[in-house]
Amino acid sequence: MEEKIITADGTETFFNREYNEAYHSTKAGAYTESLQKFILPCSIPNLAKKGKIEILDIGFGLGYNVAVAIKEAKKVNQNVKINIISIEKDKNIFDKIRSLNIPEDLKDVYSFLLSGNFENKEIGGIEFPVYLAQNKNITLTVILGEGRNILKRLSKIGLKFDAVFYDAFSPKVNTEMWTVDIFKVVKSLMKEEAILATYSASLAVRKGLLEAGFKIGLVEPVGRKSYSTVATIKGEIPPLTEKEKKRLESSPYAIPYRDPDLSLPPKEIKRKWEEKLEVKKNLSKS
Ligand SMILES: C[S@@+](CC[C@H](N)C(=O)[O-])C[C@H]1O[C@@H](n2cnc3c(N)ncnc32)[C@H](O)[C@@H]1O
Repeated sequence: MEEKIITADGTETFFNREYNEAYHSTKAGAYTESLQKFILPCSIPNLAKKGKIEILDIGFGLGYNVAVAIKEAKKVNQNVKINIISIEKDKNIFDKIRSLNIPEDLKDVYSFLLSGNFENKEIGGIEFPVYLAQNKNITLTVILGEGRNILKRLSKIGLKFDAVFYDAFSPKVNTEMWTVDIFKVVKSLMKEEAILATYSASLAVRKGLLEAGFKIGLVEPVGRKSYSTVATIKGEIPPLTEKEKKRLESSPYAIPYRDPDLSLPPKEIKRKWEEKLEVKKNLSKS
């Protein structure tokens, strides 16, 4: 198994050798990152007050975002109903989760997360291979497979979510999950007031979200200097700073990744982006 890392807040994560990255920011801390970059920016406590939350969790990973969301929602409303659809390509992720030392206050939630089974589940007439955990008020369906493919199929069903946790590995290595084209699909899965939160501060990602038709905003930095990003169709989010607006207008790096048929290999998407970047840099020199 890959190596475990103890992060800044004492919670554990793993290093992923395929992507050469950790599942969480080691400087922010796994738990802290979930809370500050995903759960609070998506207003999970406010949504919980309304009684029912539909969450789309892209990149289930070690399950922190899901676990912290459930914990924070139940803190404000013990009877809240939560329906979570997670997307994850690694079926073996549950072995990694089982070997984590789970923080004391997440132990109950993790024993729920780990109580599930692998099966096939029909969602809106389409059958998906899933890992399903369920109790009286909470349903967690982790759809197993390639993210772009799953999102495309989900968008045909007409599901609409209240919150989206967008947590793939970084755009440099997991490029297929950060294109303007996949953002358009994710947007079609969101209610108008829903908020998408991501740790990414990349200009290519921000520009991609804008071109997909989102309004975007910034979230206070945690464990680093850069602000993370939120996006919504018509919901309430913190504004962009004037400085960031200028960077998005004038930096050569503010070009979205593109994958029109949602099928290109990640390296190819990145190579095309780098070619465009060179053209823009040369143009700005001349
Ligand atoms: C940064 S980790 C997610 C951490 C997680 N949200 C948590 O709270 O522990 C990214 C996850 O996205 C998954 N992933 C990356 N690319 C994917 C793709 N194309 N389709 C489905 N899952 C993908 C990886 O396997 C990994 O588990």
